[in-house]
Amino acid sequence: MSIEDAVRIIGERRPGFMPRVALLLGSGLGQVAERIEDPTRISYADLPGFPVPTVAGHAGSLILGRLAGVDLLCLNGRVHAYEGGDGAARLKVLVRTVKQLGVEALVLTNAAGSLRTEVGPGSLVLIRDHINMLGFNPLQGPNDEAWGPRFFSMRDAYDPALAARFRRAAVATGIALAEGVYLAYPGPNFETPAEIRAFRGLGADLVGMSTVPEVVVARHCGLALAALSAVTNLAEGMGDGMLSHHETLSQGARIAQSLETLILGFLESLKHGL
Ligand code: HPA
Repeated sequence: MSIEDAVRIIGERRPGFMPRVALLLGSGLGQVAERIEDPTRISYADLPGFPVPTVAGHAGSLILGRLAGVDLLCLNGRVHAYEGGDGAARLKVLVRTVKQLGVEALVLTNAAGSLRTEVGPGSLVLIRDHINMLGFNPLQGPNDEAWGPRFFSMRDAYDPALAARFRRAAVATGIALAEGVYLAYPGPNFETPAEIRAFRGLGADLVGMSTVPEVVVARHCGLALAALSAVTNLAEGMGDGMLSHHETLSQGARIAQSLETLILGFLESLKHGL
């Protein structure tokens, strides 16, 4: 698994292309990828060491192209802690490949449950900070000093300048954008109602099964990032129905339109430099 191989293959498929932004699309949020102009698609399976997602709603392809006039690399699909295997090693390859390509900003998206009744299904939330309840860290094991130090601060892991840009884009496009703390849960089961009550006490506004490992690896190697949650449901015990992956995907598709508008607004703001 070599980052150099992935970088070389991407370079061969699209010579001279220098993406400025990388956009990772979460469960059911792949729609914006359809808007990319002049796309070059590369399957994760063709990139050594890249994670091949096993979950419905995750395509597993990398797309190079332009969106709102900005050269962009779109990561359509991710792996999750519950998929097991060598997912953590592959996640490092994916994030570090993005860094190696010279990307200035990584934008992560996910589907999440909300712990706040006033931030219901259909809402978009800018992640301010996180709580890692996964029980693992993708950087466990020997540290590769070439990428970053053994110990590092997580203050402002969600880049304040990129967050400010998203707030401005939300105002400019008329999209309501809440803000909150995301708690990562290992899954694959949804949380119990008792866990949700406990997580509220811990300060969580959102719960999901992803994003935190990518944030940790990106922060370690100094890649600036922002993250957005699309709320697909109220967290377990707060709403009427039982949670299901089907609900995540169908609600995700509903929110994809406003997510797309917000992302386009954000990219517009980058046209004149970061
Ligand atoms: N919990 C965990 N992950 C999720 C949820 C949830 O309620 N909704 C979408 N992804």
